[in-house]
Amino acid sequence: MMNNKILLLPGDGVGPEIMSETVKLLDYFIDNNIIDIVYEYADIGGVAIDNHGDPFPEDTFEKAKSSRAILLGAVGTKKHDKNENIMKPESGLLALRKKLDLYINLRPIFIFQNLIDKSSLKPNVIKDIDLVIVRELVSDIYFGEPRGFIEDNKSAFNTMRYTEFEVERITEYAIKLSKMRKGKITSVDKANVLETSQLWRRCVDNVVSKQSEVTVNHMYIDNAAMQLVHSPSQFDVILTGNLFGDILSDEASMLTGSIGMLPSASLSDNHAVYEPIHGSAPDIAGKNLVNPIAMILSMGMMFEYSFGRKDLSDSIKFIVDKVLNSNKFTRDLSNSTEYITTSEMGDLLLDELVRNVKK
Ligand code: IPM
Ligand code: MN
Repeated sequence: MMNNKILLLPGDGVGPEIMSETVKLLDYFIDNNIIDIVYEYADIGGVAIDNHGDPFPEDTFEKAKSSRAILLGAVGTKKHDKNENIMKPESGLLALRKKLDLYINLRPIFIFQNLIDKSSLKPNVIKDIDLVIVRELVSDIYFGEPRGFIEDNKSAFNTMRYTEFEVERITEYAIKLSKMRKGKITSVDKANVLETSQLWRRCVDNVVSKQSEVTVNHMYIDNAAMQLVHSPSQFDVILTGNLFGDILSDEASMLTGSIGMLPSASLSDNHAVYEPIHGSAPDIAGKNLVNPIAMILSMGMMFEYSFGRKDLSDSIKFIVDKVLNSNKFTRDLSNSTEYITTSEMGDLLLDELVRNVKK
C-alpha cells in the first residue's frame, strides 16, 4: 500500500506565508474526508541553516525519502547571501532535487481568463497560451564538476555537462507527456556553440526517432526566448536543460500576468516535490502581500500527479478562477493601490472551496 504521508517544507521569505494559506485548504480536504493525507513539517534553506547548521539537514532528507509527496514554499535569504555555496539556502533546494533524483521539472503555463489584460503582452498574443516547460533538473551547469574559484578568487569557472542517459530519460518523459497533448515538442538548446547542446540534440533526435506519434523541432535558446514573447501559442511542450529551463520559465511566467501564479512539479520515478516557480521574495516577506496562488496550484498538481486526483486539481483551478473573476487580486496583479492580502486571498479561496467542493 502506498503511504499517505506528505512533507511540508515552508522554507524562507514568503514561503511560510504561502504555505499556511495552502494548509488552510489542505485541512478542509482532510477534515471532510475528501482525501486521506497526513502531513508533517521540516526545515530547508536558510531556516535550516539557522536551526540545524545545514540547508538540507539529515532529518529533512529522511522525512523526504519516506513521503509520498513534498510541498515546498521557497528558499533564499538576504542574510545568508554571502555564505560559501554549500551554506547557501539554495544549496538545500538543489540537494533535495539531486538526492531524490528529481530529474523531471514540469512548469505548465496557462492563463486564467480574467488575467488576460494583466499580461505585459497584448491579449490576442497570449489568449491561446497552453504550454508546458519540461526542464531537466539534476544536471547541466548547475551540478557539473569541476567548478569553483581559482587564482586567488580572480577567476571562476563552472562545467556544463550532460550525459546521453540524462538527456534520453528526460526526452522519454517529454514524449510521454506530448502524446497526451498536441504531439509536438520544441527542444531548446545552443547547439551552434555548445558541445553539451550538440549531444542534447543528437540524443533527443535519437529517442524521438524510435516512435512516430510525436515530432520534435529544435530551436536555439536565444530564438526561443524571442519566440516566447512574439508568438507563444506556437509552443506545446518545450523540452530543455536545467539552465535554459530556469530562464525560459521565468520569462514564460510573465505571459500569464504574474510569476505569483505558476506552479511546478519536480518528479522522479519514486519521489515528487511541488513548489511555486517564484522564489522567496525577501523584499515582501512577512508583510502579507505575496500571492499564494502558485503554491495552492502546486498542491493541485500534487493531488493530480501523486494521488491520482485530477478532480481535486480541477476543483482548485475552478475556485482560483472564481475568485479572480470577482476582481479580487493580491498586489502583484493589482494595477491600483487596492489589493487584498495573502490571508484574505486564502480565505476567499477557502470560502469558494466550501461552497463548491463537498464531501
Ligand atoms: C527555480 C529557482 C532555483 C533554480 C534556485 C532557487 C536555485 O530559481 O526553481 O527556478 O535556479 O532552479
Ligand atoms: Mn528559477
